[in-house]
Amino acid sequence: MRYRVDEMTMADLPRIVEIERLAYTTPWPPSAYRRELQENRMAHYIVVRDTWLKPPEPLGAPRDDQHRPFPLSLLPVRVPPAISPEAANIVAFCGLWHMVSEAHITTIAAHPDYRGRGVGELMLSSMIGLAYSEHARYVTLEVRVSNYVAQNLYRKYGFSQTTVRRRYYSDNHEDAFVMSTENITTEAYQERYTELRARLLMRLASDNKPPAPTGDYENLK
Ligand SMILES: CC(C)(COP(=O)(O)OP(=O)(O)OC[C@H]1O[C@@H](n2cnc3c(N)ncnc32)[C@H](O)[C@@H]1OP(=O)(O)O)[C@@H](O)C(=O)NCCC(=O)NCCS
Repeated sequence: MRYRVDEMTMADLPRIVEIERLAYTTPWPPSAYRRELQENRMAHYIVVRDTWLKPPEPLGAPRDDQHRPFPLSLLPVRVPPAISPEAANIVAFCGLWHMVSEAHITTIAAHPDYRGRGVGELMLSSMIGLAYSEHARYVTLEVRVSNYVAQNLYRKYGFSQTTVRRRYYSDNHEDAFVMSTENITTEAYQERYTELRARLLMRLASDNKPPAPTGDYENLK
């Protein structure tokens, strides 16, 4: 399988922060992820790796543009946290909080170069799988009313709108739809889930598209 789903670890955070900045207008600060991983016992986070994606050179090498002429060379250089080779092939991530019968998806994002290839669906499907193993009965989330792409993905897995949270998003005060699955433990839902999952795995197995341009790593060195 080209795409691999792993639990998120602290070593993954610099890469998560990079993808998050490309995906959201109000990204979480790295400290929020650190708290989620280290302190929140309800939280489960996963990453998707493209195992075909290899960094072009050891990460953390100094950048040419850091050798700046005097007097600029006296100014401090902001060096982003190094991304380990293990984290460099992460292309998407997702998380949920498990609260008794509910699994609430807190975040889901794919790198822009990896959208439209089933990776987002792989995360949602994995989260529903996780909800089953945690004995949750409903999967819920909030989504911007304008985010049709994400809403389409959720509807594919039987989510429907339950309510609206007015002015939920702090950047532009956009409303959020709260969406929820039906009871995922019913036979009907499990059948649907199993069928969608099988179709998805076949789709992902035939993804021969070359890894995204390594230019992405320019930002990570
Ligand atoms: C939402 C997101 C995770 C989807 O990931 P993705 O990898 O592009 O989605 P997939 O390729 O797995 O597509 C799964 C389904 O999503 C929907 N979808 C994906 N791209 C779409 C598009 N361009 N237009 C309409 N629907 C689309 C479809 O229902 C699709 O199923 P299909 O392939 O059977 O048509 C991704 O767009 C993203 O990271 N967006 C930015 C962050 C974000 O908005 N997160 C949601 C917060 S609530």
